[in-house]
Formats: sequence, C-alpha cells, structure tokens
Amino acid sequence: MKRPRQGLDLQVDRTLALPVYQQICRRFKTAIEQRHLHSNDRVPSIRALAAELKVSCGTVDLAYRILIDEGYLLSRGAAGTVVSPALPPAPDVAPRRANNGAIHAASVDYEGRERKPLLMGLPALDAFPRKTWNRLVGHRLRTSEPARLGFPDPTGDERLREKIAAYLGISRGVSCLPEQVFVTSGLRNSLELILSSLARPGDEFWLENPGYILARLFLQNTGLKLVPVPVDEQGMVVERGLTAAPSARFAMVTPAHQSPLGVTLSLERRMALLDWAGKMGSWVIEDDYDSEFRYQGRPLPALKSLDRNDRVIYSGTFSKSMFPGLRLAYVVAPLSIAAAFRASAYSINAGCPYLYQAAVADFIAGGHFSRHLKKMRLLYAERRMLTERIFSAMLGDRVRIELQPGGLHMLLQLARHEDDVMLAERAHAAGLALHPLSRWYMRGKPRKGFLLGFANVVTEKDAMELATRLRQALGG
Ligand SMILES: Cc1ncc(COP(=O)(O)O)c(C=O)c1O
Repeated sequence: MKRPRQGLDLQVDRTLALPVYQQICRRFKTAIEQRHLHSNDRVPSIRALAAELKVSCGTVDLAYRILIDEGYLLSRGAAGTVVSPALPPAPDVAPRRANNGAIHAASVDYEGRERKPLLMGLPALDAFPRKTWNRLVGHRLRTSEPARLGFPDPTGDERLREKIAAYLGISRGVSCLPEQVFVTSGLRNSLELILSSLARPGDEFWLENPGYILARLFLQNTGLKLVPVPVDEQGMVVERGLTAAPSARFAMVTPAHQSPLGVTLSLERRMALLDWAGKMGSWVIEDDYDSEFRYQGRPLPALKSLDRNDRVIYSGTFSKSMFPGLRLAYVVAPLSIAAAFRASAYSINAGCPYLYQAAVADFIAGGHFSRHLKKMRLLYAERRMLTERIFSAMLGDRVRIELQPGGLHMLLQLARHEDDVMLAERAHAAGLALHPLSRWYMRGKPRKGFLLGFANVVTEKDAMELATRLRQALGG
C-alpha cells in the first residue's frame, strides 16, 4: 500500500454523498490551509494521483482545474502543477511562552536553538570545514557496499569506536578499549543508556546546582531522586553531596568546564568524588562536553584518567568538536559493566545512522579532526577576547564578565539587582539567544546573569551590533 504524503490523506471515501472530485478538492484545500503543502510544492501528476486513489484521470483532472481556477494550484504546463506561489503568508502560530519553571526553561532553550545569535553551546558553524566534510560524506555515499545499508550496530560503528578510543587515549588521558565505547545520538541518549543499564527506581542522583538544564529536564522524568549539590569556584561541593545523600548511586559532573558557571573541578574535589564513589560503589558520570577548548594553561586530563576504582562513566560529544546537527556522542563504560551496556544498547535503540558514523571515522582518521580542533582553539580564543572586550566596553555598567579558562560561553553577571529572566525575555524579543542563569538552578537562591555563546561572534562590527542590541533590550 502506498503511504499518503505527510499531512495529506487523500484516500477517497465512496460512501460519502460528496462527489469524489470535490473530496479531492477539499483535501488539497485543507492541506494548503494547514500548511502541510507550501507555495511552489509540486503536486502529483494527474495520472499518478488517479492511480494512487484508484479513480479515473478525468476525476483528478476536474479537481485540479477547480483548484487552479480558485487560485490554490498553478499549472506550469510540462513542468507540472504546483501549489500557488501567491498564497497569503502563514498565520503566526508561534507557541506562547509559559511563565513557569521548567516549561519556560525548555521553551527558551528551544527558541534559542532557532538561529538567534549568542546562543550558548553552539560551535562556530562558519568555520567548520564543510568542503572536506562534504567530500568525505560524498565518498561514503558513492562507495558504500550494499551490506552497509543494513541495520547498524546499536553499540556504534566498529571503526568509529576504535577512532574514539584512540582519540580519548591520546587527548584526554582516558584509556579504554573500543568495546567500552558506545556511540549515541547525544547526551540524553547517553544518559538513557547509562540509566537503563544501571539505575533502579528511586535511586538518588547528585546533580550540579546550577547545572545543565537539558540534563535536568531529562532526569526529572526518570523516576530518580535528584539531589542538587551546590557549585562554588572549585566546582561541585562534594562535601554537601555527602551530607545530603551519602549513599547516592550516581553523581553527574562537568569537571573540565562546569556547565554553566565555567569553573574547573579542583584536584581535591576530584579525589573526594572518586574516593566516595569507590567506597560506596556509586557511579560518577563525567560529562566532558567541551573540554577540547581551553585558552589558559594546559588542558586538564579527564576525571576518568584518575579513576583507579573504575567508577567513572565518561560521556563525550561531537556537538562542540564538530557540529550539533550531526547528533553523535559517545559513552565509555568501565570494563566491568560494558556487557550490561551492550545488552541495554541492543534493547533501547537501533543505532545511529551508518553514513555519518563512517564519515566521522574518516574525518578523524584523515587528521581533519585534530586539525579542526587546533584551528578552533585559536579562533575561539580570538572570538572570546573580542566579545569580552566589546561587551565590557559597551555594557560595563550593566554586566560584569567572568572569563573562565575554557568552553564556548561566558557568564555576564548582572551589576544591579535585576531579574535576569525578565531581561533575557527582552533580549529574546530583540533577537538574542541569551539564557538567564537563574533558570539553571534547581533549588536555592540563584545567582543572576546571562549565559552568552561567543563562538559565532565573527567580527568587531558583529560584536558591536549585538552589544548595542542588548543594551537597547536591557533599557534603563
Ligand atoms: C553541559 C552539556 N553537556 C553535554 C552537551 C552535549 O549534548 P549533545 O551531545 O546532546 O549535543 C551539551 C551541549 O550543549 C552541554 O551543554
């Protein structure tokens, strides 16, 4: 049976009194009015649609003539029939912003992901080597054997897992075998894999407070008991976790560059966390999301590299080191639980697309990945300083910029006692994707400020235009 086009169920109903040609007209009008079909979309040929609906060509021809007469369709002769290019603009169906906690946070985040400047976490999209990437993907497309079109391995493409293991060993001090590496579609998929392998309902889970908002939104729906643990200038205050929930089963941290405050987890805290996990048999999830980019001092090795008791589950992503549209990330499981992860991987997902996994493996193997990272470190260092300089100069009376040694975003602390959520709303209305820091707190008195992504601030002119826009949005 042929599937109907998305949002366009054209099957006719012969039991209705309405003639079939009118049913066809009505369905096209509905699809056009509801924007399932857009201006210039080609509609099926008369013959193809007649065959699909099992009606005569004359019936479809009559329906199309009426739709053309009424201005819904336009005949382009031999080039076929299209939806009229002169349709009125789509009604504004943007969802209204809710004003409450998590829902609001999610909607701000979602809107932010729609192309507004200053979005935190987004790498420099203009600087990704698209030509090389397109060549590698194209090569894979042209040369893949039919067998590669079958089901992908749910644990990840074997060659990519090898490349990731080699990269982590060299660059992050994480020594692991390819069978400990699991390819996922992003952090939330990684968490799904970890939890489905290890968690029991009601398990306690330490979470940084403030902490990565999307991880929190995901974890809130898992039946775990979330325990917010405060963060200071040395990262997660492990002592506080020990007091609040000493026998928690999980702790999740961003040691290289705390999300969102940007601080680094101190060596003392690292040791305290590992010591606790070793004694209690708990698991530490290391979210090493943007550690590739550090501008002062030497890159710190991963927490995992200090993990003598094998209690750290390492999580990385290609979202910053390459680009987030790729949707490829990875988890490294301790050897003792790799089999459980493997079983979970087979039960919870069907794997990631073969093509992109193979192309990423080629990208790494060809030296493009390390070249790209090297270039990006220099570029981000420049864009970071440029953004800091211009925003400090133009907004110094309203915000104080806290530069941290790494990452792709910076924190703008509010200089006055003001509501960062309300101000971020205004910035959003002015087309800027700033996040209000207070939304990243799960509990307790939040610090107020903005989280600003600098990776896509390209020129001084850009920076000045954005800072001016923010200044106007902040008002007074
Ligand atoms: C703290 C943190 N962890 C992980 C990620 C990576 O998420 P994903 O791999 O799903 O893109 C991000 C991306 O923004 C992040 O900010």
